[in-house]
Amino acid sequence: MSGAKVRVAVNGYGVIGKRVADAVALQDDMELVGVADVASDYRIRVAVERGHAVFASDPAAGDEMDAAGISVAGTLDDLLGRVDVVADCAPKKLAAANKDRYQAAGVKGIWQGGEKHELTGYSFCAQVNYTGALNRDFARVVSCNTTALSRTMHALHRRGWVRRARAVLLRRGTDPWESHANGMINTVVPEIRVPSHQGPDAQTVIPDLDITTLAGAGPYNLSHIHFAMVETTRPVSLDELRDALWDEPRVAFVRAADGLVALNSVIELMRDLDRPRGDMWEVAVWEDALASDGREVYLTFQVHNEAIVVPETIDCIRALTGIEPDGAASVAKTDASLGITKTFLPATT
Ligand SMILES: NC(=O)c1ccc[n+]([C@@H]2O[C@H](COP(=O)([O-])OP(=O)(O)OC[C@H]3O[C@@H](n4cnc5c(N)ncnc54)[C@H](O)[C@@H]3O)[C@@H](O)[C@H]2O)c1
Repeated sequence: MSGAKVRVAVNGYGVIGKRVADAVALQDDMELVGVADVASDYRIRVAVERGHAVFASDPAAGDEMDAAGISVAGTLDDLLGRVDVVADCAPKKLAAANKDRYQAAGVKGIWQGGEKHELTGYSFCAQVNYTGALNRDFARVVSCNTTALSRTMHALHRRGWVRRARAVLLRRGTDPWESHANGMINTVVPEIRVPSHQGPDAQTVIPDLDITTLAGAGPYNLSHIHFAMVETTRPVSLDELRDALWDEPRVAFVRAADGLVALNSVIELMRDLDRPRGDMWEVAVWEDALASDGREVYLTFQVHNEAIVVPETIDCIRALTGIEPDGAASVAKTDASLGITKTFLPATT
């Protein structure tokens, strides 16, 4: 590591990469050296507007960027020569193929949830397993759904309450930026495989969590919603459940009684709060939908897929580079920089 700040590259400036780049730029212990991509349209021109140095992830892309009037600072290999760590946010599988390149350049690498656990052998969720990632060369920040399951189930699991968890995940059909091209209309597409991959994926973060998930995708693009039913090892009261979730970082309550009755109203709240891109980095748990019947507890929560993994990626940078040995300190630092909260409307709550 050179100098006081960790030097960071972002490869793939899409839904996740552009948010990670902005978040890195906010950290006082990190320097965003540049972003790399293959696009040369408005998406990468925004990076120029934000003052980020733009690199071409492949030579043909560099030519296209030149032709589009984008000042290209170099190739991805040039960028790798100037950084300590790269957050690879390129599409799944394409990103995985870069591993040898990062290894050869002596650069630490972080991948996103589209990749398999086996790529790095370490699946990361800051509040669960930060310490195990310290000074590793590679890690994978788990997907949006797995991050949400890890955070919420960790609140219960670390208290020894989980006998068996089951969750139903209704995923967004596509992301807003590409909804002219992808998506579905007037339907829901169930995943046929049971368990859906998110349950086993959560076990890469919390290995002894007994969890089964079912999933499907619907014709909306504002985020995902999960319904979790957790059989407990002893009767857990509603107050205990509420307190456990309140104590868990990056979990915040919303209430239908406040008019936050659906995915769209919660996202509208994020916009009204002037959050960048209307992002919600927290898992939003409906406080007035929490329930307990003495045998099981029940949770309903919203997962803003475009944003939730961004703070995790920032913490993963600190863990891999070892600049902050204490996970709780990293989480607190990241949360302060982004404005992550326990309650979205503190003045009236
Ligand atoms: N979108 C989500 O909701 C979401 C949530 C959590 C995790 N993830 C994961 O994050 C990763 C990135 O997903 P995304 O949704 O940001 O994708 P995206 O399609 O929005 O962005 C990918 C970016 O990579 C660029 N790119 C394409 N080929 C490239 C190459 N060869 N080299 C470098 N850049 C290249 C694209 O131009 C684009 O800007 C995936 O692993 C995905 O599973 C996505």
